[in-house]
Amino acid sequence: MKPGLSLIVMMFLLAGVMPVPARAQSDADFKEWMKQVNGTNGKLKKELKGKSSDAADDATKIVGLFAQIGDYWQTRKADDAVKFSSDSASSYKQIAILASAGKFEEASTGLKSGEVNCSGCHKAHRSITFHGEEIK
Ligand code: HEC
Repeated sequence: MKPGLSLIVMMFLLAGVMPVPARAQSDADFKEWMKQVNGTNGKLKKELKGKSSDAADDATKIVGLFAQIGDYWQTRKADDAVKFSSDSASSYKQIAILASAGKFEEASTGLKSGEVNCSGCHKAHRSITFHGEEIK
């Protein structure tokens, strides 16, 4: 066990392998999370309209995504984005509670007002350039 492990460590040292820059890795993750947020949010809107019992689950899924998104901004020390993330998470938590209580209209209203966090964060941290979108 021990010799094997130090061999691996040595190989890394010899090859000069540095950890993959966290930023490059998580930027791709981030885009993926956003796509999931957006897709699930669209689905959730329809479910609330149709008073579907799936709504609470999807709202909870979005809470989980915003928790990850908040961690991401925490590591980048962007306090405003951390706040947009946690405000989003709490608004979807509220939506989940309302939906599971059958209060679909209140939940829809909550969703609409929670979307200020989407645009707030996009304004501050999403730059759309000639080359596509970037995180700033
Ligand atoms: C904490 C900040 C933050 C919040 C909150 C946030 N976004 Fe984003 N979003 C971003 C950033 C940054 C990008 C750009 C990511 C990139 O292009 O790499 C983005 C990109 C997107 C994209 C484009 C994804 C793609 O395919 O490139 C969509 C769609 C999106 N957001 C939807 C939403 C919706 C809907 C909400 C609210 C329910 C939301 N976002 C909330 C930061 C946020």
